[in-house]
Amino acid sequence: MDLSIENIINQKLDAVFKALNLDTKFAFAKASDRPDLSDFQCNGALALAKSERKNPREIASLIAAELEKDSDFAKVSIDGPGFINLTLSNAFLGNIIDQAAADERFGCGQTSARKKVVMDFGGPNVAKALHVGHLRSAVVGESIRRIEQFIGNEVISDVHFGDWGTPMGMILSEVIRQDGDLSKIESYDINQISAFYKQANIRCKEDESAKEQARLLTTKIQDKVPEYYQAWQHLRKVSIDAVKKNYDELDAHFDLWLGESDAHDASFEIVKIAKDKGMSEVDDGATIIRLEEKNNQQRPPVILVKSDGGFAYQVTDIATIKMRYDDLKADEIIYVVDKRQSLHFEQVFEVSEKLGIAPNVKFMHIGFGTVNGADGKPFKTRDGGVMNLEDLIQLSKDKVRESLPKAGEVEGYGEAEIEKMVSQIAMAAIKFQDLKNNIGSGYIFELEDFAKFEGKTGPYIQYAVARINSIIRKAATAGISEGSVIISNKEERDLALKIAQFGNTVMRAHSEHEPSIISDYVYTLAQCFSSFYNVSSIMNAESAELASSRLKLAKLVRDILVQLLYLLGIEAPEVMLKAAP
Ligand code: ARG
Repeated sequence: MDLSIENIINQKLDAVFKALNLDTKFAFAKASDRPDLSDFQCNGALALAKSERKNPREIASLIAAELEKDSDFAKVSIDGPGFINLTLSNAFLGNIIDQAAADERFGCGQTSARKKVVMDFGGPNVAKALHVGHLRSAVVGESIRRIEQFIGNEVISDVHFGDWGTPMGMILSEVIRQDGDLSKIESYDINQISAFYKQANIRCKEDESAKEQARLLTTKIQDKVPEYYQAWQHLRKVSIDAVKKNYDELDAHFDLWLGESDAHDASFEIVKIAKDKGMSEVDDGATIIRLEEKNNQQRPPVILVKSDGGFAYQVTDIATIKMRYDDLKADEIIYVVDKRQSLHFEQVFEVSEKLGIAPNVKFMHIGFGTVNGADGKPFKTRDGGVMNLEDLIQLSKDKVRESLPKAGEVEGYGEAEIEKMVSQIAMAAIKFQDLKNNIGSGYIFELEDFAKFEGKTGPYIQYAVARINSIIRKAATAGISEGSVIISNKEERDLALKIAQFGNTVMRAHSEHEPSIISDYVYTLAQCFSSFYNVSSIMNAESAELASSRLKLAKLVRDILVQLLYLLGIEAPEVMLKAAP
């Protein structure tokens, strides 16, 4: 069921345009530029004036005359050079809301052609703790995953673990340098392995032979020489266990925990296909594919096999596309990765198309901007180091704890309950701050206001939900039940119009791959509810019918907010506490 108000009006316009033999391309309405005059406006007559060789007002009056016959409109008027202004009747609006409330999707339509979408996000690497740069991939990726699922696509998410490059050889050679061999490797935990990696990094920068040794060991791992391969398996396992904890906390879900290493065999196939098609060449010991200029710009070649014999980052991604087509039968593959990797994906997609390894698959790279500090540069710790994701979460929790009562201060809220709430609110604060920005632009991580209960924040929306929950509980105690929606004042009308945009909002967020469309809507819906509740009491309503109508509106707003928060990856606690001032 699609109850989006714009779509319903567009269907009405479409029918009228057809009846009048007018081009239906212009049969659409948008929210009114003058909300004081009307709910919606259609500018179609202006666009048609030229081709019809008529005065726009003349065409507008033909259209308006038809629309006036429809009792769903309370008012149809022609203003200015030929704008058609439309105001819906309260009865019609109330009826739409009743239908939305009765629908488990609140009137949001579903995709007509269900697709299989593989989503690649997360992208953590062996032996490296997740840092703030990984935040957006997990947060934006998870939100888009949920939106895809909600509109009816089948989604398979894959973390695409970075487990096959030179860092693997670097770690093992550093362990050998310090221990003499790899016999102790299985006793090392993630912190020890990360420390080896840090030392290896420094050494390889200074010492060419250390670098050479690391490359050699990487090839041994990739060739599955047992001693090195087994040691590598341990590195991979401890690293996965560590990042899984982070992703659990972020509530980011991955169906598959495959990595670059899983594309090893398919990489041989890619090299062979490229060679057979005459597309690759050997240059300075490396196997590469040259791509033609784009926009008069030369582009670097795509590297399949490096001069040391190892597979390059690019070929692993191309091989992974082949697997996602062959094994997973993907119709579409979406990557949520830092936009600084745009050229990489442009080239990977282009080569995959040229090689014909995934015919008709739609590729998309959703590139996000960086999370910055107040200086506009990537967010750092106070002492200038990289901000770990865990530290960032800790920092947010400490901030949130300041606004909550202490354990035991409120009956029924001991340590565990308070900590659960702290975590729910801190995650909402982090995620909402991220998702209220356009994906493509970077944003400044705001350390003071992001966890406040007022303003455009996650906790504000959670608080709005908890407040409605409490209103609903009170109404239940007073014996009020839900009834048909009656629109009796301006605030009810505004709220109803807002609710009726739910489906359209989700659809737009989906087609534009932009969760910020949802966060904007969530925020204005919460504000609209607040204005409504300020003037429209449930407990002291003018009549029993109005009380029942308002209760239904309140419940629907709560359900929609909870649903949309879910699409942003945010939980809504039933109750929210606040520290005594
Ligand atoms: N591990 C990579 C990095 O840290 C990101 C992986 C992104 N996904 C992909 N399919 N290439 O840069």
